[in-house]
Amino acid sequence: MEEGRENPEEKDFALVGTLYGIGVGPGDPELLTIKAARILREVPVIAVPTSYSDAGSLAMEVIAPILEERARAGRSPEIVSLLFPMTRDEGILRKAREENGALLLGALSRGDAAFVALGDILFYSTFGNLLTGLSSIRSPLPVEVVPGVTSFAAAAGRLVEPLVQGSERLAVLPAVYDPAEIEAVLDRFEVVVLMKINKVFGEVRDLLARKNLLDRSAFVAMVGRPEERISRTLDRLPPGAVPYMSLLVVRKNGWLTP
Ligand SMILES: C[S@@+](CC[C@H](N)C(=O)[O-])C[C@H]1O[C@@H](n2cnc3c(N)ncnc32)[C@H](O)[C@@H]1O
Repeated sequence: MEEGRENPEEKDFALVGTLYGIGVGPGDPELLTIKAARILREVPVIAVPTSYSDAGSLAMEVIAPILEERARAGRSPEIVSLLFPMTRDEGILRKAREENGALLLGALSRGDAAFVALGDILFYSTFGNLLTGLSSIRSPLPVEVVPGVTSFAAAAGRLVEPLVQGSERLAVLPAVYDPAEIEAVLDRFEVVVLMKINKVFGEVRDLLARKNLLDRSAFVAMVGRPEERISRTLDRLPPGAVPYMSLLVVRKNGWLTP
């Protein structure tokens, strides 16, 4: 704990503010909801996650027009970076939890604060970690959630392809399992969305090739951003590396639209 920083476990904060968890959508500033924009125009503190990926800075880019508007009006919010280390080391995780808790509860003792993250705020989001950490420190915590457009909903939109129809079953999972487990999911569901594919792209592509699903698998990277890349087949991919912000949509029944 840094000198001068209050330990939330030692001090009972009188919270006067609400914590807003705000999903800012997948990257296109026009996919920010009206409610999210209204809150982000008003809150004195905006907290943003920083970690191994550039997700936090991408979320900040989505809300850049609002921050510029506030700067022009001389009402810039305080920006607070919260670190979410990618480790299983309990000591490091506990320290990050304490520091994030102290920063946020300190802000909430002065007024409202908004935590922003890409896509939906409760869908594979650091906000989930934050909430569980905070509620172990302080309960009850005044929290309001503003859902955002998920990356896979935006991907289906850019593919102009119904994600699921009628009785089709959808599975959405991070591709962090071994190929045999992903194969079992492919066997059970008509439509499968695989998130976090960057590190295992080669293995997943090999699996889809073995199951004759390459031309029924769409690759969508950086959806909603200028560097967006989309392909309706894994036979031919647009050039470039597979970034962290990419996913696959597999439709075993084939594409419904041309
Ligand atoms: C930690 S999860 C965050 C999910 C996010 N909360 C959502 O609602 O989509 C990160 C994964 O979401 C997907 N993702 C997020 N934003 C994306 C984008 N703009 N384009 C493609 N995939 C994206 C990628 O699969 C990435 O590995």
